Amino acid sequence: MKRLIVRFVILLAIVAAGLFAYAWKPAIDPATPPQRADFDQELIEKGAQLAAVGNCTACHTNPGGRSFAGSFAMPTPFGIIYSSNITPDPETGIGQWSEAAFSRAMREGVSRDGSHLYPAFPFDHFTRVSDEDNKALYAFLMTRPAVKQSPLANELPFPLNIRFVLAGWKLLFFDEGAHQNVASRSDEWNRGAYLVDGLGHCGACHTPRNAFGAEKPDAYLAGGEAEGWSAFALNEASPAPVPWTADSLYAYLRRGWHADHGVANGPMAEVTGNLGLLPDSDIRAIAVYLESLMGTPSAEREQRGEQALKAAAASDLVLASASGAQDDTPAARGETIYYAACATCHDSNRPQPFGGSNLHLSSALNAPDPQNAINVILFGLPAASGRQSSIMPGFAAIMNDQQMSDLLAYLREEFAQQPNWDDVASRLTDTRSGKYHVSVRPSDGIERGPDNVGAKDQ
Ligand code: HEC
Ligand code: HEC
Ligand code: HEC
Repeated sequence: MKRLIVRFVILLAIVAAGLFAYAWKPAIDPATPPQRADFDQELIEKGAQLAAVGNCTACHTNPGGRSFAGSFAMPTPFGIIYSSNITPDPETGIGQWSEAAFSRAMREGVSRDGSHLYPAFPFDHFTRVSDEDNKALYAFLMTRPAVKQSPLANELPFPLNIRFVLAGWKLLFFDEGAHQNVASRSDEWNRGAYLVDGLGHCGACHTPRNAFGAEKPDAYLAGGEAEGWSAFALNEASPAPVPWTADSLYAYLRRGWHADHGVANGPMAEVTGNLGLLPDSDIRAIAVYLESLMGTPSAEREQRGEQALKAAAASDLVLASASGAQDDTPAARGETIYYAACATCHDSNRPQPFGGSNLHLSSALNAPDPQNAINVILFGLPAASGRQSSIMPGFAAIMNDQQMSDLLAYLREEFAQQPNWDDVASRLTDTRSGKYHVSVRPSDGIERGPDNVGAKDQ
């Protein structure tokens, strides 16, 4: 018995030592901050493009603050995590990081001092980025203006505030390693897969997560959430009434809207804004890859799409009016609201992107949950400062929950031929109370600060 215990203790010690060896990462020595002349101008410009695809600016810049200086708050189900200062300031930023330290952070999610980083930094995607692209990103970041600003301390409960714990998370959920091409697919498809899974980190929003905040590998791009919005399924479960094609995906990602699908809203507006720096060929590659995930639509699906397009084309504000039904059902009450408050824009046939799209084409109304419809109707689409954008007023102060719920019942029945969602009441309460931290942005709306892009002008 005693020998058994001794063996058991030895075994435990070996396991613990193994885990420790796995979890422990050495610090990488501080390097002398590189100079601008150390980098090729072309490399810096390539890095600017890649940084836009990776959305580094948005997560590392506080609204109104200096670009890449960090302390941007990311609310998670576990607490608030603040982003790091990734300007080349030697004390508070990454000025003393060698390229090796930077690449390790991207590939392994480990800081220069050896501590593990939280997956709020999407290293589970950035691990796919090639060494070559990391080199360009490094060149770009190290040539931004240095900003002295210490990042705010995270607000996480014990034991999540101990970085060592993250090694366990990685052991369970992190699939480390650069992107591998699939030989049977075209170069274009592989390029698309590389951008989607790596820097584009589309799955960070579009793939559902488990209780530990890790993306579920068996539900790849099956629909997730971000900043209080639903990020719709990009696989065969896509809720779009008109099936997406490589051409429509290309147009939507290139310009932030498509006539058959409306305008990119909420966090997706920022994504399409960021993709703006990529060459057409890369956007095309993403579109080709996504189309292959969505698969060939069934005959029935195609038919539904054609019906939606027909119904949308037939709508005409002059002819449109409430059916005059006398029933006192939720949908009948909602119809009255629709014609009073919404039809002037959504049945006007004004061309996209400035006219509201016909709601027969709305993914939001055909989605499995009401979140995006609720967000758009409560908060609208704010005007972008200094340029033309799609605008919709918010109705939060004008409609109470009963009216909202009636309106949604009508919208679902009329534009999705489905019953109202059953969790409308609780979602309305929680959305209004701020529980979901819904981010409201103008269409295609990233503020392109002077030091984010245009590496040339510096
Ligand atoms: C979705 C938000 C998000 C995006 C997008 C993002 N980051 Fe971060 N990043 C974070 C957060 C949050 C942290 C801090 C994590 C922590 O403290 O463990 C961080 C940390 C880092 C660190 C570690 C810094 C340090 O001092 O340890 C580096 C380097 C970094 N990010 C680079 C980038 C680059 C380059 C990009 C774009 C390709 C990028 N990040 C995009 C959220 C983001
Ligand atoms: C920060 C979160 C986030 C990231 C990252 C993100 N998306 Fe989205 N995406 C969303 C949200 C939210 C929506 C729903 C927008 C709306 O309601 O208009 C959306 C909508 C879309 C749609 C329209 C779907 C439909 O049926 O209407 C496409 C296509 C899309 N995203 C592609 C991508 C691709 C490709 C990437 C990666 C390059 C990406 N997204 C990255 C949040 C994100
Ligand atoms: C001043 C014009 C205007 C009014 C009034 C208006 N909208 Fe909109 N709405 C827009 C514009 C512009 C968009 C963005 C383009 C698009 O995607 O349709 C939009 C987007 C939407 C979307 C997102 C569609 C999708 O899936 O992408 C929904 C849902 C919506 N509106 C519902 C309503 C409802 C319900 C009302 C009435 C309570 C209303 N709107 C009133 C202009 C308007």
